[in-house]
Amino acid sequence: MDDSELIRAARQARRCAHAAFSRFKVGAALQTADGIIVTGCNIENATYGLTICAERVAMFKALSEGHRRFRRIAIVAAAATPTPPCGACRQILWEFGGDLEVILANPRGETGRHRLRALLPLPFDARSLK
Ligand code: THU
Repeated sequence: MDDSELIRAARQARRCAHAAFSRFKVGAALQTADGIIVTGCNIENATYGLTICAERVAMFKALSEGHRRFRRIAIVAAAATPTPPCGACRQILWEFGGDLEVILANPRGETGRHRLRALLPLPFDARSLK
């Protein structure tokens, strides 16, 4: 599967975003080690604070379906500047996905590409608890 297919899946997932408060819709598509795509979108609610980002929806969906090894994630928002994952999502993606390739895009195409390790240097994770 090429990058454009993963970006397309994230763009499609974005259409389901529930962003009634910020109006900022985000879609994510997470690729497992065996090539399966699991998507997510952001879901806001009236308390605001219980909002969950597209990336965490995708990761939690994947984990709940039994996936444990991941390769890449594409994140799509309709912003001129790239939309990188927030701090909470970086933590969750790192803990469950490791050093993922993170592909950022807007509806016109790719806007950035990073390794998760570069986005979350000096992470706290299970190794820190030993
Ligand atoms: N959001 C995401 O879903 N992913 C990101 O990478 C950045 C932010 C959502 C959360 C909230 O619903 C809206 O975008 C504005 O912050």
